Order: sequence, then C-alpha cells, then structure tokens
Amino acid sequence: MYRLGQKEIDEVSKVIKAQKMFRVGDPKTGHLQEATRFEKEWARTIGVKHALLLSGGGTAGLMAGLVGMGIGPGDEVIVPAYTFMATASAVLLVGAIPILAEINETLSLDPRDFEKKIGPHTKAVIPVHICGIPADMKTITAIARKHKIKVLEDCCQADGGSFKGKRLGSWGQAGAYSFNDYKIMSAGEGGSLVTNDATICERASMYADSGVAFRSYARDFSMPVFLGFQFRSTEIMGAILRMQLQRLPGMLADLRRIRSRFIKELSGKPGIRFAPSNDTKGDCGVVASFQFESEALARAFAKAKGVDGWLPIDSGKHVYSNWDPILEHRIGHHPSMNPYRMPQNKGLRLNYTKDMCPRTLNILKRTVFISLHPDWTQTQIRARIAACRKAGANL
Ligand SMILES: Cc1ncc(COP(=O)(O)O)c(C=O)c1O
Repeated sequence: MYRLGQKEIDEVSKVIKAQKMFRVGDPKTGHLQEATRFEKEWARTIGVKHALLLSGGGTAGLMAGLVGMGIGPGDEVIVPAYTFMATASAVLLVGAIPILAEINETLSLDPRDFEKKIGPHTKAVIPVHICGIPADMKTITAIARKHKIKVLEDCCQADGGSFKGKRLGSWGQAGAYSFNDYKIMSAGEGGSLVTNDATICERASMYADSGVAFRSYARDFSMPVFLGFQFRSTEIMGAILRMQLQRLPGMLADLRRIRSRFIKELSGKPGIRFAPSNDTKGDCGVVASFQFESEALARAFAKAKGVDGWLPIDSGKHVYSNWDPILEHRIGHHPSMNPYRMPQNKGLRLNYTKDMCPRTLNILKRTVFISLHPDWTQTQIRARIAACRKAGANL
C-alpha cells in the first residue's frame, strides 16, 4: 500500500450513507454498485473482457482461475520455486499437484526449466511477476502453446505492470491479482481474476460465489451452475479500489522514475551490477535489484550504511525450501481431501526436497533488493543512491 487518503474516505462514506455494503444490487434501487464498476474499469485497464473482484485475495483469484480452466485432481501445474507459497497452495486447494521449476537471474520463471519440467500430466503453468518484475511472457506463452498447456499469470505483486506494452494478466488465458496491504493497490485485502475467456469467467464466477445459483442472471450461464465457495467482495472494497485504480498510473510512474534513476546513476559503477530485466519499461518499479558474485558480497552490500537492502533468500515463505506444509504434504482439513493422497494423483510427481532447485537458491542468495517508495523526496533518493555507490566501491 503506497497511497491512501481522502478520495477513499469520501467514497467509502458514500457507500455507508447509502446503507448498501452488499455488492449484489437490486436493479430497482439503482444503488452504487461499486464492485461491479471496479470490475469494468479494471478489465478495461488490463485490456481483457472480464474481471472478477474477490474477497479471498490473490489466492482466491488463482484458485478461481485454475477452476475456470478445469484443473483439478490428476493434473500437474508448474510454479516457480521463488514465489509466495500461495501460488503453490492454490494449485493444491483445487486438488492438483504443484511442480517446481527454477527461476533465472531475472528472478522470474526460467523458460528453459519450465519446458524441461513439462510432463504427461502437466495442464498449466503459473508464471509469477514477483516484486513487480515481469516474467518473459513471450517465451513462456510460446512454450505453453507448443505443449498445449494453459497459462495463469500470478500478477499478485505487480498491479498494473506490463510486458512488451501489454498488461500482465492479459498474456495468459487468465491472471490473478492481489490487493492486500503489501501490494501496489490495496483495500487491506482482496483480489481479482482477469480473463478474455468466457468459459473461464463463468466457471470462476460459480466457484467464487456459490450464491450465484440463486440469482436471476444464473439463467444466462451457458452451463449448469455447480456449487462453489463464497469469495464475494463488499461494496466498500469496490469503492476503495476504484480510487486506488485512479491513483495507479501516478504510483507506477513515480516508482518507475525512481527505479530508472537508480539504474541511470549506478550502472557501471564499481562493484554494482543490476539483475537483468525482461522488460525495464513494464517493470512496476517496486524494487531495485542488484546481483553479486557471492552471498558474502550481497550481504555486505545490503547492510552497508544507508543502503537498507534485503536478500530474497531471507523472505520466508517466498522461498520453496520454506514451504513446510507442502514439502511435508500437510494439506487440507481432512486426509481424504489431501491431494497428495488422492487416488487420481497417484503416479504424479509428488515428492520434493529442500535442495531440488539449487539454481533458484543460488540466485536468491546473491541478489539484493532495495524496496522503493513512490513518495521518496529528491533528498531521500539522492542519499540512497549515494549509499549504494559507496557500498559498491567498498566491496
Ligand atoms: C506472488 C503472490 N501470489 C499470491 C499471493 C496471494 O495473495 P493474497 O494474500 O491476496 O491471497 C500473494 C500475496 O501475498 C503473492 O505475493
């Protein structure tokens, strides 16, 4: 969360004054319908036909996307070994099995390892635009097409980012976004699924709103309604996000301006090397990412005075080797609902080890992120860049 203020307060108070916090509107009253308006504006921003706003966060967006694609028990889904655990959890929560693939120096899914990991039961891949850094969507979608598997983009850390001028979430068959407090746009919690595919949208709508079965518009669906979960958003969430969406271009422009300045003023300076990027312009600018020859050098740079950097290897549940419930097959509330025990998943690749993606661990140990903020003053930017220059020279 970067910017939040009077605009959000005003819109939320309108919703409260109207006494309409439930998003399912009554066409006769013509009330605000903030959630629906957000969905339309968000779909337009991403450049897709459909967007769903969900209370269950990016996790619900990923689950709804997988269900929309028809993925479940008997299927494998490839996920990068560096991502928040929720990417892999979502696969398990729909009954499928996550298969881990290495990242490359860009910090996103390595297309070559992705292709190597495709097996006879692989039905989808989830490239993750981690820390606002776009994955190589051109190569990933080409490989997926060749092997006839679906692409669900995890854009949870990249609200509004793009790759080669096309918004993230519109490259694959669907994309999932998060609006929790650590994201560029925030409503405290919340998430979204975006897609151009009407079937994915219909199935995801049923899955994410079991109440849909009782509504008049259920008659418009092209297939019988199945029972799902309850991930409906509130009108308050919709009202806040409509204002966050208005702030998005400004937040991205400021983050990107600061990141570009780091690159311009530090490139080629002694001891400094930036991580390669798949698309500098589309990167959200959430972090400046540096890479070093060794973990010792990375740690020395990160903790040098005024740098305030951090190593992604230290980011807990973002590193696969810390996904204990998954590595140890502790999934779900009942043994029969644990995908690792489901008969349909027998014969799939079920076992993991903490060292199975050594390249990912090596890259995460040699990388330093500096988290950027769009409201940094010129003095703050100058001081941070100067600290980096000095730290690089002293390595
Ligand atoms: C890469 C990634 N995927 C998925 C999620 C899940 O999003 P949420 O916490 O909104 O459910 C997150 C959120 O932290 C994330 O960073």
